[in-house]
Amino acid sequence: MSNILEVKDLNVSYGGIKAVKDISFSVPKGEVVTLIGANGAGKSSTLRSIVGLVKPESGSILLKGEELAGVSTEQIVTKGITLVPEGRRVFPDMTVAENLKIGAYMRKDSLDEDMNWVYDLFSRLKERSWQLAGTLSGGEQQMLAIGRALMSRPEIIMMDEPSLGLAPIIVKGVFDIIREINKQGVTILLVEQNANMALKAANLGYVMETGRITLSGTGAELLENEAVKAAYLGKAKK
Ligand SMILES: Nc1ncnc2c1ncn2[C@@H]1O[C@H](COP(=O)(O)OP(=O)(O)O)[C@@H](O)[C@H]1O
Ligand SMILES: [Mg+2]
Repeated sequence: MSNILEVKDLNVSYGGIKAVKDISFSVPKGEVVTLIGANGAGKSSTLRSIVGLVKPESGSILLKGEELAGVSTEQIVTKGITLVPEGRRVFPDMTVAENLKIGAYMRKDSLDEDMNWVYDLFSRLKERSWQLAGTLSGGEQQMLAIGRALMSRPEIIMMDEPSLGLAPIIVKGVFDIIREINKQGVTILLVEQNANMALKAANLGYVMETGRITLSGTGAELLENEAVKAAYLGKAKK
């Protein structure tokens, strides 16, 4: 099967507010796919509905051909998809190691191999395994949030604005890690406002505007698209 994730005619509403309007998109297995768009476009609502944190009003979400709509978040994570939420959300009063173990709470097997995998990816986390997460820098907290998500051994990991609020040099590190995780076989669905970096990292991109997908193409095509340049790359381009 080529598409690990397929979203069809998805609608998400909050009371009377329609946040996601009939969107359809797919994520090919093994690739980096990005969803870009301005603040309020409906990107987070899309990701949150895929993992069952928001109940879709209608539509279909297929993971490896299996319907996720109506399945609990815990069950969805065990099926191989996970979300690194916007704003990192690490547990500040717990150590780095404790935060990582929480990411694997659905599993009963040994965690040593996965802890080592995450520590190999993020040497800074290894050095700081006993440090309280709340005392880490913003970039380190983002690494920890990604590492925690990897502890559920996802086949596909979704990240909601991992670069938000980080200094440019740290952002580069986050994107390096995204590429490395992908190289190791994990499919990635990346939501970003940093369209320039995201499209450079992505095989495939979708542009979301006020709840709808208005454009799609390869990362390279979207980087060259005049409408995308005007709306999203003006400030990001250096
Ligand atoms: N919990 C919520 N309750 C009500 N409205 C919400 C909620 N979350 C998001 N929205 C609204 O849904 C729309 C899409 O928001 P969101 O999915 O967060 O967009 P993005 O992630 O692209 O910035 C916005 O109009 C936002 O105000
Ligand atoms: Mg958002």
